Amino acid sequence: KDIRYHTDVLIVGSGPAGSTTSALLSSYGIPNIVVTKYNWLANTPRAHITNQRAMEVFRDLGIEEEVIEKAVPQELMGNNVFCESLAGEELGRLYSWGNHPQRMADYTMASPTKICDIPQDLLEPIIMASAARNGAHYKFDTEYISLEQDEDGVTATVQDRLSSETYQIRAKYLIGADGGRSKVAEDIGLPYDGEMGVAGSMNIVFKMDLTKYVAHRPSVLYWVLQPGSNVGGIGMGLVRMVRPWNRWLIVWGYDISEGKREVSDQEAKEIVQKLVGDDSIPIEIESTSTWTVNNCWATEISKGRVFCMGDAIHRHPPSNGLGSNTSVQDAFNIAWKLAMVLKGQAGAKLLESYSEERTPIAKQIVQRANKSIAEFGPIFESLGLTDTNDPIEMLNNMAKRKENNLTAIEQREKLRKAIQFKSYEFNCHGVELNQRYQSKAISNDGTPEPDYSRCKELYYQATTWPGARIPHVWLGEDGHRISTLDICGKGKFTLLTGIGGEKWIDVINRINENHGLNIEIKTIGTGLDFEDLYGEWADQREISESGCLLIRPDLHVAFRANDAQPDQLEKLPAAIKSILSL
Ligand code: FDA
Repeated sequence: KDIRYHTDVLIVGSGPAGSTTSALLSSYGIPNIVVTKYNWLANTPRAHITNQRAMEVFRDLGIEEEVIEKAVPQELMGNNVFCESLAGEELGRLYSWGNHPQRMADYTMASPTKICDIPQDLLEPIIMASAARNGAHYKFDTEYISLEQDEDGVTATVQDRLSSETYQIRAKYLIGADGGRSKVAEDIGLPYDGEMGVAGSMNIVFKMDLTKYVAHRPSVLYWVLQPGSNVGGIGMGLVRMVRPWNRWLIVWGYDISEGKREVSDQEAKEIVQKLVGDDSIPIEIESTSTWTVNNCWATEISKGRVFCMGDAIHRHPPSNGLGSNTSVQDAFNIAWKLAMVLKGQAGAKLLESYSEERTPIAKQIVQRANKSIAEFGPIFESLGLTDTNDPIEMLNNMAKRKENNLTAIEQREKLRKAIQFKSYEFNCHGVELNQRYQSKAISNDGTPEPDYSRCKELYYQATTWPGARIPHVWLGEDGHRISTLDICGKGKFTLLTGIGGEKWIDVINRINENHGLNIEIKTIGTGLDFEDLYGEWADQREISESGCLLIRPDLHVAFRANDAQPDQLEKLPAAIKSILSL
């Protein structure tokens, strides 16, 4: 063996999952190496919708501002347009990504961050820079080949793709963040449910100034329905904004039974012209690629000292924009656990909670994304596109919606409702933020899980029920606003208490001393560290002032107690020992 490097964590893959893990571990002071197959990061725009939960991770890392600088803001993401072509007739619009005035309040109240749109080729360098600034080592052109694990660590064989030399890297833990065709997941034999290759799609990235067709109805997504423009199908294409309003990505279907599909620049240009509906504007094709719609998730996501994440464990279409976001959140879940175990502040069993907490999410988001594709059905039906295979008839059926008769009234109503129903793809705030964990790393306080008062997919519901993400409230620090999320996280556990909660401080000080921990204590209330400026913390905390919340580094509630009575105080040391597997 030629073991050239030793490190604590070897990360395979530099996508959103791998790089975020590296950035977080580095910020926690954990040595890590990232190996990645190609000579650079993502070379195409790929994922783009960046939801509040991912932005909160970037905020915790201190890179939120850099992301915002490069991103398109929420306000420009707001109109999902359905049309016959960009230059042609419009079928309807849906306020999306929280831009309906009523929904805007939900989004604004839920988080100190905002949803935004940043293409993956602009996001990845920001995350990598954060990792490298804090000491991570990136090895490009380095392909993971195989691994062996034993009781103390993992030895990975990698190949330098420039010299073809093969050598080994020894690590205490290995992260498989190597994407939808994960070799790491295959090598450790992860089991999967669902199906790969359900349908075929092509991406066409191109430059074209479309200002005159889009600037008055700004959006990131324009859906074009064009019967007859592909053989035998409904002909739905997606024109996606990459940069306003001159860099774009078109997603167009192809028949997967044809096998491997090449797309020539000429064919790409013709598709662009068809969907735009104007052949007078110059087009520059940047790249074309094909991908398949998958509906597949891992039912186990780790083995021994190897943990997989991102597309390696959840493979699904881009609907709802969940791919990169969920990958970032996988990273937020595992990174602090690895750091605490490596620092001797937690037992290795804590790592088992990664699977317990993230496996159900993998399944949930894959199913949600695939359901969203199926939920275009009512739009097609309302337009009469499913009653026939004849494109001329389809076009006639679409045109009938303009008539003045009872059938047309019904058709218009069906179309209006079908478009609104797509909120399950474009305003699915609950799917993004309602992740409540149940595992060994959460100490249940015996209260039942709070019911959702509105649809749990569409609406986020704040709660401090153990396992949920800490609710966001603006507090005051010397009169300045600071979020509850800002006073927690950054690799540490934080205990929040208020007036009358002094005894919690004694308990935490003792625990810190006995176990070599550095749990922070923050007090909220009149005359304490942070003021409840707007009185909203009192509404949200669901405990009395003297009670406490213990917040994990990934901003989920690990323990809560209603007050500082002796029976409650006694529970905390045992809960922390159990949460951290000490
Ligand atoms: P990701 O695939 O980003 O990263 C995998 C990493 O592993 C890469 O750095 C790769 O080089 C590396 N790697 C793989 N095998 C390796 C090996 N053997 N050794 C070393 N390194 C290895 N999503 C969306 O919402 N909208 C979209 O339009 C698109 N479009 C799109 C286009 C294309 C071409 C792809 C590939 C993907 C998309 N996606 C997308 C999906 C989205 O990009 C995806 O969900 C996230 O990137 C997942 O992040 P990961 O970090 O898990 O994997």
